[in-house]
Amino acid sequence: MGYVGQRPALDVVLDGLRRLEYRGYDSAGVAMVDGTGRLAVERKAGALANLEQRLEEVGTERFAGTSGMGHTRWATHGAPTDRNAHPHSDSSDKVAVVHNGIIENFAVLRAELESAGVEMASDTDTETTAHLIARAYAQGPTAGDLSASVCVVARRLEGAFTLVVTHADEPGTIVAARRSSPLVVGVGDGETFVASDVAAFIEHTRDAVELGQDQAVTITRDGYRVSDFHGDEVAAKPFTVDWDLSAAEKGGHDYFMLKEIEEQPEALANTLRGHFSGGSVVLDEQRMTEQDLRDIDKVFVVACGSAYHSGLLAKYAIEHWCRVPVEVELASEFRYRDPVLGRDTLVVAISQSGETADTLEAVRHARTQHARVLAICNTNGAQIPRESDAVLYTHAGPEIGVAATKTFLAQVAANYLVGLALAQARGTKYSDEVEREFSELAAMPEAVRRVLATVEQVRELSRETADSKAVLFLGRHVGYPIALEGALKLKELAYMHAEGFAAGELKHGPIALIEDRLPVVVMMPSAKGRAQLHAKMLSNIREIQARGARTIVIAEEGDETVRPFADELVEIPAVPTLLQPLVSTVPLQVLSAEIARTRGYDVDKPRNLAKSVTVE
Ligand code: F6R
Repeated sequence: MGYVGQRPALDVVLDGLRRLEYRGYDSAGVAMVDGTGRLAVERKAGALANLEQRLEEVGTERFAGTSGMGHTRWATHGAPTDRNAHPHSDSSDKVAVVHNGIIENFAVLRAELESAGVEMASDTDTETTAHLIARAYAQGPTAGDLSASVCVVARRLEGAFTLVVTHADEPGTIVAARRSSPLVVGVGDGETFVASDVAAFIEHTRDAVELGQDQAVTITRDGYRVSDFHGDEVAAKPFTVDWDLSAAEKGGHDYFMLKEIEEQPEALANTLRGHFSGGSVVLDEQRMTEQDLRDIDKVFVVACGSAYHSGLLAKYAIEHWCRVPVEVELASEFRYRDPVLGRDTLVVAISQSGETADTLEAVRHARTQHARVLAICNTNGAQIPRESDAVLYTHAGPEIGVAATKTFLAQVAANYLVGLALAQARGTKYSDEVEREFSELAAMPEAVRRVLATVEQVRELSRETADSKAVLFLGRHVGYPIALEGALKLKELAYMHAEGFAAGELKHGPIALIEDRLPVVVMMPSAKGRAQLHAKMLSNIREIQARGARTIVIAEEGDETVRPFADELVEIPAVPTLLQPLVSTVPLQVLSAEIARTRGYDVDKPRNLAKSVTVE
């Protein structure tokens, strides 16, 4: 984050970093310029609180200026130590740089600097940019011009990056540059901000400007100027952030994640709102024709992590409704195996952040093969929607907890909307059928509200499960992706061994894992909707119970047949089969959050993780 204005920059920057900490918490640092030609820099490994404590110890007199910047880091090059924390400076301590992303040619740049006698003070790729910018500012055609110096260096960089740069000789100016990594400008009254997320400045302004690929911005207290990397001015797109400070705060909850779990009915309702009108699904951006949609003969869904699990559900809905083959693939695998793509292929890219490097690269690969790309995203104007042919935004609001909760549910709903849009375009469903499916979806916020009203029981059973060695999750049909999602949540939050299986696979190996009192969470198919699967799942539960497992069964209200085999029974409302994941996921989210809390972990900031994974 960078700030130029009239207030003490240190306070503004630390507040901003607090709201950005979910993006990385390996280390934090600040740099300020106070008009005396000196740079004040402080940085510390660990959470932002460590930096704040350090500032208290050393005193903040040196940080008196009204322009400055800061960073929270998720380590890529170099261990998460004080030495590798950002900002990084050049040898004369004139330039300070913070950086997100990876500079792929940094070894070459570093060798070049070292052979010119520069001594490196860190193991990071970032530090090379500080030295290069300082040299460009000191001599040659860009001398004395920070913006031009940043641009000339940015042109030499390979990889993905956002750089924010300040120079001791230019107080009141901050320059930032971006390629494939997010950067937005906040425009206030007599103050200007840059940040990787609007959350950093939402307290001060909702007027924002998005930057395009390979663009740089120079901010002063009076405004901003956007250019390409050759310094030529370009028009940038202003937008108003459609949520406010309260959405970025905990609102009385101990953790953002708990608040975000509770916000799910609203997140779902907001995602559905405005996306269905006059009997048809409405996308937010549409750069494809109806004919393009009609011609689609193959769908790929690409995503990572929880978004990938939501994509697995898209397959059930799209194939069922649209009679078109769907493949769901981890974005990190997709482009490296040379998938068969063409003009009539639709690639659905799901990413709440819209920044995930693997998904972005999958989108780019698909486009080079002339496939159409439809993005499902929760972040207005992020890179993935910018590079797609059509966009459906999930309006879940900001999600600060690192584990996906409300954005996951919103993605599932958005997938179904895409399925209905395709069914309509391809004529595989009549309008009244599409309307009926939509009205069933529209009833889901209320169903989720009912689940939330009953989760106290899950909290209790979580506490009893917290000292288990491992937990297994079983599902069939749409319950299978939810078993995977439940296991992922538990792994990332509670650091427990957790695995999700298709229940039918149990006897092909995983049943060997079952031992006395091992908790096994079972997603029970609907007795009415999927009677055959229900019967098969009952047999599976019997098999594992007979081998000593402690069964925790998530089943429809009124499903009495399962009661004798459930050591713990968690009831969810009966809803149409395809929509069951929207209710059955909720107890699993509560389960993992509560187990993590009982084990004493920070639910919002699990170790080693960051909210946006902007490196491959
Ligand atoms: C898990 C989680 C991650 C993300 C994944 C993709 O709780 O949050 O697995 O789902 O990193 O992120 P986006 O959706 O931003 O592309």
